[in-house]
Amino acid sequence: MPAYTAQYPNARLRRNRQTSALRAMVTEHTITPSDLIYPLFVIEGENKTTNIESMPDVQRKSIDLIVKTAQWAWDNKIPAIALFPYNDPNTKSEDGAYAWDNQNLMNRTIRAIKSAVPDICILADVALDPYTSHGQDGIVIDGDVDNDATINALVKQAIAQATAGADMVSPSDMMDGRVSAIRQALDDKGFQNVGIMSYSAKYASCYYGPFRDAVGANLQGDKKTYQLNPANSDEAMREIAQDIHEGADSIIIKPGMPYLDIVQRCKSQFNIPIAVYQVSGEYACIISATQQGWLDKDTAIMESMLAFKRAGADMIFTYFAPDIIRILNQKK
Ligand code: PBG
Repeated sequence: MPAYTAQYPNARLRRNRQTSALRAMVTEHTITPSDLIYPLFVIEGENKTTNIESMPDVQRKSIDLIVKTAQWAWDNKIPAIALFPYNDPNTKSEDGAYAWDNQNLMNRTIRAIKSAVPDICILADVALDPYTSHGQDGIVIDGDVDNDATINALVKQAIAQATAGADMVSPSDMMDGRVSAIRQALDDKGFQNVGIMSYSAKYASCYYGPFRDAVGANLQGDKKTYQLNPANSDEAMREIAQDIHEGADSIIIKPGMPYLDIVQRCKSQFNIPIAVYQVSGEYACIISATQQGWLDKDTAIMESMLAFKRAGADMIFTYFAPDIIRILNQKK
């Protein structure tokens, strides 16, 4: 504390909290729709939704309904959506080749959104797990995900997504060197303005469980040889530094609430836009407690958003986007 800080009784910190006007005046952080990135799960079919058991109130939607949701997001000033496909099991293979099929579910979705809601920022996830029969994020050789073989696949996937109209590609696979490989390939194909929002600090976390249910990934084994060890934070800073060096336009830290220290360290160490991902398991924790009546839903949601902003996040991936818009509109 600086020496000039007044002490009680001259300083009474409760004074600034006495009225709603004063509390509003000294508020340090606020949540607006432009902070949000809304993750969406897409399925085949028309006018179709399916429920996700471990993510109550989140639905997978067919392309026509995803387009409507994208329009809703844009109308409510949410600037970005992140797309994840639930691919039919018969499209899956050992090498995940459907990932770079120009006509796959993901790329058809991107095209449909781009033509109907051209201004919203579409983030396309680059990783093989919704496409591989084993649920790993890359190509398995001799029992492990092979780094460089996987990069070749990811580059093809990213190019197909950029060709379909993705504004940004988001590698979530954690291979070494994928950002520079994708950047170079995008530039070679004339996609200089397609950005890379890289999952730089992605931990090997149990909090992704419900997501794997949502995209129908049946993971065999674990992802510990590529995702970060939850015990480490220096290593996360090295990952972030490397991705910045390789040309990432913004970076993602994930999961969110259990890793706020990583967000804060990143904010103080680097000057790049930071996104934090409130992942499926965090959603499930909050929703299940609120369904029991053990937490107040709206307060719990907004408190979690403020935690991200306080820690230094510029953008927040959250499945609560519809609730947040409702809560913000109620306040008006
Ligand atoms: C795929 C991917 C995952 C998530 C986003 N992209 C799962 C994983 O790595 O197993 C998790 C998102 C969430 O849990 O909400 N690479």
